[in-house]
Amino acid sequence: MTKFLLSLHVLAAIVAIGPVTVAASMFPPAVRRAGADVAGVGAVRLLHRICRVYSGLGLAVPLFGFATAAAMGVLGNAWLIASITMTTVAAGVLIAFVLPRQDELLGQLDAEQPVERSSTAQLAMFTGIFNLLWATVTVLMIVRPGSTTGA
Ligand code: HEM
Repeated sequence: MTKFLLSLHVLAAIVAIGPVTVAASMFPPAVRRAGADVAGVGAVRLLHRICRVYSGLGLAVPLFGFATAAAMGVLGNAWLIASITMTTVAAGVLIAFVLPRQDELLGQLDAEQPVERSSTAQLAMFTGIFNLLWATVTVLMIVRPGSTTGA
């Protein structure tokens, strides 16, 4: 059962977080290009939709993560508590900063308003923080510092 839950957890991380990482990273440069090219707005809208939909699917990652941790009896381990904290912060950055700012920039493009370079740079920064956080969690999940449950 543990192996089954862990497989679902890792599969969810690959299928859901992967697309968010790629689409969110492509978003700021796509907005800059779309400023000069009306057809580019469609690409920006698609990237935003990928981020929104796959962020929702990403909920499966902590859900299966908790189920795996409960099945393994490791819920109190320090590496896991650190991972849960970082996952929560990453989700917070995505929900409070990345997605709303994407929405805002898309609205500006739709209204044919000029987009400030500083707003795309700021969005790129928040996206970078999100990516760094979940990449760190992935390393923690594999290295499990201090863990005595297997290699
Ligand atoms: C609430 C958040 C999370 C919880 C409770 C959680 C829980 C767990 C647990 C218990 C394991 C099994 C570790 C072992 O084999 O001893 C695991 C493995 C793993 N997790 Fe998570 N996880 C969380 C978030 C994440 C996130 C955000 C990612 C990446 C996007 C991730 C990626 C992985 C990977 C790749 C493994 C496989 C590691 C390996 O077996 O070598 N997890 N997770």
